[in-house]
Amino acid sequence: MRIFSGIQPSGTIHIGNYFGMIKKMIESQNEGELFAFLASYHALTSVRSKELLEKNSYEAAINFLALGMDPEKSTFWIQHDVKEVLELYWILSNHTSMGLLERAHSYKDKVSKGIQANHGLFSYPVLMAADILLFDSNIIPVGKDQIQHVEMTRDIANSFNHAYSKEIFILPEARVDEIVATVPGTDGAKMSKSYNNTIDMFTSLKDRKKQVMGIVTDSKELNEVKEWENCNIYSISKLFMNENELGNLRQRYETAGEGYGHFKMTLLEKINEYFAPYEEKREYFLNNKKEVRDILEFGASKARKIAVAKMEIIKDCVGL
Ligand code: ADP
Ligand code: NA
Repeated sequence: MRIFSGIQPSGTIHIGNYFGMIKKMIESQNEGELFAFLASYHALTSVRSKELLEKNSYEAAINFLALGMDPEKSTFWIQHDVKEVLELYWILSNHTSMGLLERAHSYKDKVSKGIQANHGLFSYPVLMAADILLFDSNIIPVGKDQIQHVEMTRDIANSFNHAYSKEIFILPEARVDEIVATVPGTDGAKMSKSYNNTIDMFTSLKDRKKQVMGIVTDSKELNEVKEWENCNIYSISKLFMNENELGNLRQRYETAGEGYGHFKMTLLEKINEYFAPYEEKREYFLNNKKEVRDILEFGASKARKIAVAKMEIIKDCVGL
């Protein structure tokens, strides 16, 4: 079974990204063959700076390697190192109706938010279909907002298979994880870099302390009993503490004498402890850039082998 994931090359990641997506992706390496790429071509729909694209791609690679991406077990590459995907993108464009693309929610949302409508943004789902279909992917773990894109991939694959009366493409399935709840931000709303309510993963201890200390609570005093149920500190603590530790924390809420600042310090220590081993690995890769480049090239060589073989079949099918 092939599990397929695209990663936006974004430098800063927060604990919402980690518990909502990255952790599961890393764990999926034990479940099937993971294919994961850094979506550099896709990033061109929004990034207009060479330095920023390079920096973000490199940092994303380092973050994923530090968090447990295993380049031997999995296939981990940067999109533009396997150019076959662009050839497939063109072929698939001829099996993608305008109406299908015009119905894409994410395109409509982006344009309504004032993002300039250009062809790259419009045809993004065709490139995504090429990414997925080139590698005969079976399972695509996605958030709710991406389900439609996987459905579009199935439509495009079907339309191609039908046009040539051949089962060239495997129809992929979206997997939406309903179990992982949305990680709340420091203000209780969904944690998101757009809302300035994040607790970041790889940041200085000083900045992380500032973020944790910024968690919004009610204004109960030290000598009052407190409620843990809807407290943002407690909600975030659930991600980092076991049942024993949580029981302990609940008791501290229910006993007057401590303030929210104390609970925040306990949480901060847990977060720092949790990510310390990853920080160490990240530090290693930061100091060994050539190794990171080699790992991505190794991943690209594995991906390319599959991509070239698949393109032979596709080109033979269409007459190229
Ligand atoms: P952001 O909202 O900070 O811009 P992205 O949209 O880049 O984050 O999301 C990257 C990945 O992290 C997606 O798979 C998304 O579902 C997941 N993710 C982001 N924020 C959260 C959150 N608060 N809780 C759970 N998962 C999240
Ligand atoms: Na988002």
